[in-house]
Amino acid sequence: MIRARAVIDRAAIAHNLMRVRAMAPHARVYAAVKADGYGHGATTVAHALAEADGFAVSSLDEALQLRWAGIDKPIAMLSQQLDATVCEQAGEYAFEPVIFHASQLDALEHYIGPALKVWVKIDSGMHRLGFAPAYLDEVQARLEALERVEIVGWLTHLACADEPSRPETPAQLAVFAEATANHRGLRSIANSAAVLAWPDAHADIVRPGIMLYGSSPMCDRDAASYDLKPAMHLSAPLIARNHIAAGETIGYGATWRTPEAMDIGVIGIGYGDGYPRHAPSGTPVLIDGVRVPLVGRVSMDMITVDLRNAPNAAVGDRATLWGGGLDVDEVARHADTIAYELFCRLTPRVRFEVV
Ligand SMILES: Cc1ncc(COP(=O)(O)O)c(C=O)c1O
Repeated sequence: MIRARAVIDRAAIAHNLMRVRAMAPHARVYAAVKADGYGHGATTVAHALAEADGFAVSSLDEALQLRWAGIDKPIAMLSQQLDATVCEQAGEYAFEPVIFHASQLDALEHYIGPALKVWVKIDSGMHRLGFAPAYLDEVQARLEALERVEIVGWLTHLACADEPSRPETPAQLAVFAEATANHRGLRSIANSAAVLAWPDAHADIVRPGIMLYGSSPMCDRDAASYDLKPAMHLSAPLIARNHIAAGETIGYGATWRTPEAMDIGVIGIGYGDGYPRHAPSGTPVLIDGVRVPLVGRVSMDMITVDLRNAPNAAVGDRATLWGGGLDVDEVARHADTIAYELFCRLTPRVRFEVV
């Protein structure tokens, strides 16, 4: 009688890491496990990725969570501001902060703890985080003047790697290559999309996230075509099967009308569990391997589906919302979002199980 349940498949996550290795055979892999392992559970994912060379998180809190769970690999903090306490903890736990703003240099100049390895982020054109190439010499000089700080390498992030024909990616790669040409250290550019579609961006260390969870970031290819396996199977029970007359409306706002007398299923998951409220009628749901399209509005605790294709579906059967035969990217497209958001928005009401 479990309501919404997310089963996390460690073998799938490990398999997807092998796919990263196959696609980028010469690079080391820092697995992106920020935002609680993209909603899958950061420590579960990190343990499943025991073969990764390191991890990438957003913040100090996320880095601490991994260390305290026994993860002893390098952990880069991608977007953590620095102050005296953060620097101290980064030194104590051997985290690798990414330096993306002058305010962080000020904090490092007052740091007196154990040796600290840092990455320097270059803004190669995305204009979110990082130093403009013109400032790199100055940044390097300030960091090299610090006895306790060592530059591990240089990184950048790509704005449009998920769209293979966009000219921005080669332009960013050129800016990064020129900016780092005279600097020693490792180079890291690639997110999942660049692992899959831009071999020139593989460099020394790749930082894939979403592909490890079995979703394709590419606009033109699905996850199965890259042999990626879904890491999360989200399911919920059919809690009612009702026969409704022709011409009746279903759910809040009466937005969907039965074209004929038909059975409507009610499934025990809604936006209170993180299922996207704006998923429209037609969004696929799976029962016993059969597609039963969502009809009407998503409620807090329930969704309603068209059971005309599933005459045998019975109360108590479990429906798949994504994973397990239903590509999360297809659901995301219907809901006008991305798999990243679907994963991250699941609420604590969902029961997580690890297999
Ligand atoms: C700096 C950085 N590197 C790597 C990643 C991983 O990206 P993806 O999940 O698209 O592979 C992210 C994710 O947003 C990121 O911000």
